[in-house]
Amino acid sequence: MLRPGSGKPQGGVPRGVGSDYASLAERIAERGCSLGKPLHLEAEVTSTNDLAKDAARSGAPHGTTFVAETQSAGRGRQGRTWLATRGESILVSVVLRVACPPRRLPTLALACGLAARDAVAKATRTTPMVKWPNDVWLDGKKVAGVLVEGVIQGDKVSAVIVGVGINVHTRVWDEAILPIATSVAMHAHAEGAPPDRATLLADLLAAIDHDVGLVAARGIGLVHARLERYDALRGRRVRGDGDEPGGVAEGIDLEGRLLVRRDDGSLARLSAGEVHLGA
Ligand code: BTN
Repeated sequence: MLRPGSGKPQGGVPRGVGSDYASLAERIAERGCSLGKPLHLEAEVTSTNDLAKDAARSGAPHGTTFVAETQSAGRGRQGRTWLATRGESILVSVVLRVACPPRRLPTLALACGLAARDAVAKATRTTPMVKWPNDVWLDGKKVAGVLVEGVIQGDKVSAVIVGVGINVHTRVWDEAILPIATSVAMHAHAEGAPPDRATLLADLLAAIDHDVGLVAARGIGLVHARLERYDALRGRRVRGDGDEPGGVAEGIDLEGRLLVRRDDGSLARLSAGEVHLGA
């Protein structure tokens, strides 16, 4: 997917950036999207979320977007590392200037997970699900992850950074990841062309653009029906990371919390952390 680098930008992309991204700005413009402008395409960065955060602190406008081919310090939720083979994924972070009280950030993250789901659904013509809070699953394996971070100034969120990693072309996985990871290519329509990162990324930005401002202003009521429809955990037994007893997932409330019916009949509302399938 990567062009051999010549030292000079060629075909509209900087050296070390895949030529499939040459049409990205055009794909974004076709969708009338307010995100993806200005667009920074980078061969290698520490973390696109870090670049977006720094840019936001320096006054970068709504829509500023960083896309990279590889990250030396890619981050996931809960301090995990996000690994991606160069050129095989979408690694993107967007600066959003939306009025959002800090307490609403988790619901924004849910909306971004849904947006990633929708973009993957379009690329694969399948029905991916969202595993609370915002992993995208295909056949029970993770195809995309979302990391939403607030840039806080005083008691206000001055910018929201939405970072998304989507496994696109990867077919070979480390042994440890193999049971839990999948990619768009592994689910792409058999007769179709290989997945096109520019189209997928433009669809992702358009989907985020469509929902996130509304969710920031009014909460997740507007997307709640879709959260329910694509909830990978509903009706399944889950447990958290700690010593708390597990139970059966019963959906997501309007604060974005996961509802878990415990064996003693009580209803737990989980607002943070990780949940796993199983007893
Ligand atoms: C998760 O599933 O835990 C979230 C993963 C988010 C990864 C993306 S890749 C682009 C952006 N830059 C980062 O360092 N992280 C996010």
